[in-house]
Amino acid sequence: MSLTFNIQNTTPEGGRRATLNLPHGPVETPVFMPVGTVASVKAVPQDILETNGAQGKGAQIILANTYHLYLRPGHELVRRMGGVHKFMSWNRPMLTDSGGFQVFSLKGLRKITPEGVEFRSHLDGSKHFFSPEHSISVQIALGADIIMAFDECVETPATWERTRESMGLTHAWAARSKDYFEAHKHEVPWHEAKSGATQNLFGIVQGGMYADLRRESAERLVEIGFPGYAIGGLAVGEPREVTREMIARTLEHLPADKPRYVMGVGYPDEIEEYARMGVDMMDCVLPTRAGRHGLLFARNPETGLIERMNIKKKEYAEDQGPIDPACTCQVCARYTRAYLRHLYSAQEPLSAVLNSIHNLAFYLDTMDRVRAACNSGN
Ligand code: GUN
Ligand code: ZN
Repeated sequence: MSLTFNIQNTTPEGGRRATLNLPHGPVETPVFMPVGTVASVKAVPQDILETNGAQGKGAQIILANTYHLYLRPGHELVRRMGGVHKFMSWNRPMLTDSGGFQVFSLKGLRKITPEGVEFRSHLDGSKHFFSPEHSISVQIALGADIIMAFDECVETPATWERTRESMGLTHAWAARSKDYFEAHKHEVPWHEAKSGATQNLFGIVQGGMYADLRRESAERLVEIGFPGYAIGGLAVGEPREVTREMIARTLEHLPADKPRYVMGVGYPDEIEEYARMGVDMMDCVLPTRAGRHGLLFARNPETGLIERMNIKKKEYAEDQGPIDPACTCQVCARYTRAYLRHLYSAQEPLSAVLNSIHNLAFYLDTMDRVRAACNSGN
């Protein structure tokens, strides 16, 4: 056993407050995972990631991408550097996505067969091939605490037939991902240093926008058996009510005693909503990407509602207030909206740094509030 998941409290809505123990430490859930695609949470140094947000606790777990690290600097180089934790000097838990989703986003640059996916690098156009076995071998070299099965995320919209066919491929690839992982899991760079601990392979439920397929996919993955389950294929352009419905209809068929992870969501009010429904883990590029575009999240002091602030607006030119008076982040403690607007207008690199730190703190604080609510059972 390389993972334990201890549920401390549940809410009438289905929310859970739990602790997920991983080889690199504990994670209090529900949790938001900042995205560090190329082993870097864009514009945010590791020491700030460790202390940002509620009570200075920082991010508990971050995500990196297999596809990107395989292409550059190469997973063998990362293995020689002792794994991704050592390479980037991040000693807390990490998760890598399998590359499936990233490869499928390369429109026109790929060819899919039951064996795997042939694709061209977005960096130099060179040809590569990913199979479930290859994705897992790369993820073992990287050494994240949680790794993901190699899946196909169907395009949207897609017919029921097309979605079912794609889902069948995902299930076959999930079984192959597990077989390869079981045979090679002791090869992780920190195996000896962590007293024989291994990584944890999660399965990914697909099934598009069809509740019956979501159920079939969840049941098939549970049959194969994983220590945790992700819900993929969402937030790909469908209306938010559909995302919510698909999550609800999938959660019903996943074991309550295992961690459940919705991939690639969402806005702050969404992650709050999904956590209340019983989702334990989420990741999204939104806080950092929006920050780089001058879009800041804040809570209205009167209504408590989440608002989006566009820092480039003229109205902030001489505004002496912080982004969000209720925010405890180091950016809100020190800098004015006027200064942040100036940095953005002048296209200063510091603009991306400060905006990303605040937005990440906002996300981490949002989840801290949800955990507090789950603790008190409401
Ligand atoms: N990230 C967001 N959605 C997905 C998905 O469906 N599959 C994978 N592997 N990663 C994702
Ligand atoms: Zn702030």
